[in-house]
Amino acid sequence: MQEELKQILVEGLQEAGAAATSQELSAVRLKYFGKKGLITQYSRRLGMLSPEERPRFGKIINEVRQELEEYLTTREQELLALEEQRKLESERLDVELPGRRPRRGHPHPLQLIIQEITTTFLGMGFSVAEGPEVELDYYNFEALNIPPEHPAREMHDSLYITDKILLRTHTSPVQVRTMEKVCPQPVRIIVPGRVYRRDALDATHSPIFHQIEGLLVDKHITFSDLKGILTVFVQKFFGEDRTVRLRPSFFPFTEPSTEVDVSCGCQGRGCRICKNTGWLEILGAGSVHPKVLAMANYDPELYSGFAFGMGVERIAMLRYGITDIRHFYENDLRFLSQFS
Ligand code: DAH
Repeated sequence: MQEELKQILVEGLQEAGAAATSQELSAVRLKYFGKKGLITQYSRRLGMLSPEERPRFGKIINEVRQELEEYLTTREQELLALEEQRKLESERLDVELPGRRPRRGHPHPLQLIIQEITTTFLGMGFSVAEGPEVELDYYNFEALNIPPEHPAREMHDSLYITDKILLRTHTSPVQVRTMEKVCPQPVRIIVPGRVYRRDALDATHSPIFHQIEGLLVDKHITFSDLKGILTVFVQKFFGEDRTVRLRPSFFPFTEPSTEVDVSCGCQGRGCRICKNTGWLEILGAGSVHPKVLAMANYDPELYSGFAFGMGVERIAMLRYGITDIRHFYENDLRFLSQFS
């Protein structure tokens, strides 16, 4: 029994020494001193011994108990101290460490262009108007003097939802929607927005793109007002040294109609961007067709006006010399962060 107790003491000391946490140490304590603990059991057996043997074994058991208990207490203090220290270290706060700044975003380049152009026109007394992207065939075509079967419809590869509803192919329907609302007041609006065409995505086409429409209707508006306003816009946006060129064109909702070019930054020397022509085509425009005015309840004898429409992607590509429209939609930060 004495030998057994010694063996138990040796093992107990070893296990207590090997415990790496105070929790593990508690388990060791329970194993030896718990209700069914190894040393507890010996104490119980003491009663079964003869009165002569009892004092001797009682003494041995007490010694073993005391030694192991003392060591467990020492170990416990060590482990608790260690754990406290680890906890403090893990919670340490370096108040001098520089803070982590959140990464700042910025508007998409197309939004920047829209904002810039819109601001220029706001400065000339225009206000911003909007219209639905899911549009009635009536506003997208008919009210713009493009009846069913009109060949101009073929220039718009449309995405129809029903016979009478489609995704708008241009921002021009907002012309009529606005005129209907404010008639007979004068109109001076700019309409930035998203438009849709059934085109495959390639370097110069996208099924979803952006346009900015302009419309001015009042008494005594002439074609020279159109040219003046567009010259102000072009020189603000592209540079004071630029000039505007008007070429005859055709749109069903304007008469006469014109294609508007801006002189290229190469000053006519010829470059890749203008394909050596010295001119960049930037928008379509014209005097509002009397039929369109009449459909929106304006008297064409009293009122006249002009309209224009430009592609935002195209303008952005010309401005920055971007050659592939897909860059705008791929969300590649190497591209986008150049416009912050
Ligand atoms: N809506 C035309 C298009 O998408 C662009 C346009 C041309 C708009 C002439 C106009 C305009 O307001 O007068 O092709």
